[in-house]
Amino acid sequence: MSCILLTGATGLIGSFILRELLGQGLSVAVLARGPKARERLERHLVRLEASGQVTVLEGDLGQVDLGLQPEARKWLANHCGRVLNCAGAVKFHADGTGEPYRTNLDGTRHLLHLCRQLKIQEFHHVSTAYVCGQRRGPVCQEELDEGQSFSNDYERSKFLSEVLVRQTEDIPVRNIYRPSVVLGEAATGFTPGFQGAYALLLAGWLKVQQGVGLDQFLSLLHLRREDSINLVTADWVAQAILHHLLRPAQGLHCFHLTHPRPTRWADLYQALLDCAPSAAFIGSDSLESNGLLEAYASYFCNHPEFVPGQYASDCPALDLAVLVRYPIERAFLVEEEQPVDQLVAQLPPCSYPVTLEIAGQGRWALGGAPDQPGLANAFCSGRTFHLLRQGRLSLEAALYSGQLLLEGEEFDKVRTCLAQVLQP
Ligand SMILES: NC(=O)c1ccc[n+]([C@@H]2O[C@H](COP(=O)([O-])OP(=O)(O)OC[C@H]3O[C@@H](n4cnc5c(N)ncnc54)[C@H](OP(=O)(O)O)[C@@H]3O)[C@@H](O)[C@H]2O)c1
Repeated sequence: MSCILLTGATGLIGSFILRELLGQGLSVAVLARGPKARERLERHLVRLEASGQVTVLEGDLGQVDLGLQPEARKWLANHCGRVLNCAGAVKFHADGTGEPYRTNLDGTRHLLHLCRQLKIQEFHHVSTAYVCGQRRGPVCQEELDEGQSFSNDYERSKFLSEVLVRQTEDIPVRNIYRPSVVLGEAATGFTPGFQGAYALLLAGWLKVQQGVGLDQFLSLLHLRREDSINLVTADWVAQAILHHLLRPAQGLHCFHLTHPRPTRWADLYQALLDCAPSAAFIGSDSLESNGLLEAYASYFCNHPEFVPGQYASDCPALDLAVLVRYPIERAFLVEEEQPVDQLVAQLPPCSYPVTLEIAGQGRWALGGAPDQPGLANAFCSGRTFHLLRQGRLSLEAALYSGQLLLEGEEFDKVRTCLAQVLQP
């Protein structure tokens, strides 16, 4: 019964946790989505220079019984002694798929239910420091419900999932881990993807590309020079989680995984500015950057004062130059993403003459004659295009956040056509 079941192993924090678990010689099973889960997992392990035996169980937290086959449940009943829930939907606003509640709340409920059924004694849960919502602090790790209001559905869903974990008293060991805003590996900047905190960096980077200076940036966001964001790195978060997970415990414990010395916004933006002379241009249509600033407005503020947990004394100082250079050098795209022109050539025909312009990449007629101007024009960055194509960003969300801009006639018709052409 020594095996640990890890969820979210293909994500930013989960991939570093998997590396730590394997590094400790622990036996690991991961719950992962989709038939290509093993392939994705192996790619991350190579990048992280990690190796070891991993049992991959295909499933989905949002499904009753996690969508596990009966043999997989039986296997878990015989081998699994601990669960570490690191899967999560980092989506700020509830959408038509039921996220973020489907994964964060229902998923936690399903996983807790599985633990009770299989008599698994330890449940480790990755939450977020922002369950404190709009409180400004000092915020202590023992606190949860202080009557706070929330900035978005994500925070609320994580708060509700913590309530579930707290209420499930018949699981004898329950640890809750609350990281703040997480970036990739401290030494290299490596991250397996560019969701979450990277949207904040991208918004800042687009402003840099528009020639916005430091003072202008701060005043645009009503930030003072001393205002800060609480950043930590995924490798440190993973080490902190393992530190607590491997210690004998009983009952419920909650740990802030926050930086004792938060990063000043001014220093973060300066690190982005310092990258500008040598970095490639990735497109800076003003609507996208303003849309991102708006979508993440609740995080462009002076972050709450988190009273750090005991392990925080080991939290290293951040090398901002390394952490911002990694995504910028990759144009915020993961390596396996194909060049845009190849992907556009593979798009199905569009029933309406629309021109698609991808910043810095080119212009394509998606319907009608190639030499005729489209009746409507769509603009986005290469990154937005990739996210839309992979189904990681819905057309509605891209339009709402300003990441996709439309102009021209018959807006509804264009929207329907683009949804058919761009979304998987
Ligand atoms: N990133 C941050 O700044 C931050 C800060 C504080 C707390 N957290 C918390 O840390 C956890 C991990 O975050 P992250 O940044 O590593 O996220 P991430 O990079 O977006 O990864 C999310 C992981 O969860 C998996 N997942 C999502 N929905 C699932 C479902 N329904 N069933 C099974 N697996 C599912 C994803 O699998 P696929 O590969 O199939 O998508 C992926 O492995 C989350 O609970 C998040 O709330 C994150």
